[in-house]
Amino acid sequence: MSSSEKNGSLDASAGASVDVDAVILVGGKGTRLRPLTNNTPKPMLPTAGHPFLKHLLARIKAAGITHVVLGTSFKAEVFEDYFGDGSDLGLEIEYVVEDQPLGTGGGIRNVYDKLRHDTAVVFNGDVLSGADLGDILATHREKEADLTMHLVRVANPRAFGCVPTDADGRVLEFLEKTEDPPTDQINAGCYVFQRELIASIPADRVVSVERETFPQLLQEGRRVYGHVDTSYWRDMGTPQDFVRGSSDLVRGIAFSPLLEGQTGEELVDPSAGVRDGVILLGGTVVGRGTEIGAGCRLDGTVVFDGVTIEPGAFIENSIISSGVRIGANAHISGCVIGEGAQIGARCELSSGMRVFPGVVIPDGGIRFSSDQ
Ligand code: GTP
Repeated sequence: MSSSEKNGSLDASAGASVDVDAVILVGGKGTRLRPLTNNTPKPMLPTAGHPFLKHLLARIKAAGITHVVLGTSFKAEVFEDYFGDGSDLGLEIEYVVEDQPLGTGGGIRNVYDKLRHDTAVVFNGDVLSGADLGDILATHREKEADLTMHLVRVANPRAFGCVPTDADGRVLEFLEKTEDPPTDQINAGCYVFQRELIASIPADRVVSVERETFPQLLQEGRRVYGHVDTSYWRDMGTPQDFVRGSSDLVRGIAFSPLLEGQTGEELVDPSAGVRDGVILLGGTVVGRGTEIGAGCRLDGTVVFDGVTIEPGAFIENSIISSGVRIGANAHISGCVIGEGAQIGARCELSSGMRVFPGVVIPDGGIRFSSDQ
């Protein structure tokens, strides 16, 4: 039983709502995922059959939180067009737009006027996490913290900023990436703030919560705690992580309330046409209206809507955007194919290549490897 279940006030399964606001930062440009993010903000990219953000919203709802504020900037209108007031999801969603991106700290400060409660859970909108939100909130309350950070223990902390804590869970410092990290606890991009702390972030200028706000709170002696666990965690910022995160959702390795009872080796939209002899593996997802010809093999791949894949193609660990056409017997490994691109028959594309939207590669094209 989770501590959220032990603590009656946080028991979402009983239908109780939690007196906490959720804030999601979705204003980034998602440059590492270009060209997928040229027109679509990263949190709206189709992931395991839904925009990524919808999985996070479902998790927030399942934790009993109903009021959500999205801090938007890049392509702000796309979010409201899709989610509206949130009522379809049983949520109340509000939107705050930054004319110029204010960074993570500035984005949090900018939603201050929309907050209704003394406590707000702030999420990076591109993190796939299996953490129990009720448990994180319970730690925040038990410690009477001003700020509680979700910290996750990872096998390779060298790639991330580390956050050591003392025996009581109090945060000692925030460290940049280092070759010799003193702890395997990393910042998981989910924070519980007491509201007055948000008021103290400077308004109307760019602020990084990681580089400026957190170190300053420590310096001021505020009660900053870590909630440490080993739950599923992935930053969806790169093509490799995006593909892996989507596959993990499809296979149930990462949990989403949207996919309960539907997990398996593949997830195919009912409107897609998949011919005989097609093999779909490794958490491959196939979007609306996509057609896959006989004898194709797709492994660990995300295929958006309206894609045509001709017979005999082999695709692994790749992202295929909407409207793409892939010719017969093409071989694509570890690539991102932009919207509407056409890949000729027998083409061989590998090693992290990115094909930009609308590009046409003739039959038999590109056999070399590239790290682009
Ligand atoms: P990259 O350009 O590929 O690094 O992606 P990104 O722009 O999303 O940046 P990053 O991954 O560091 O951002 C972490 C989270 O904060 C994401 O959910 C972003 O949408 C969000 N974010 C980043 N910058 C801003 C900002 O200026 N304003 C707001 N509201 N959110 C931001």
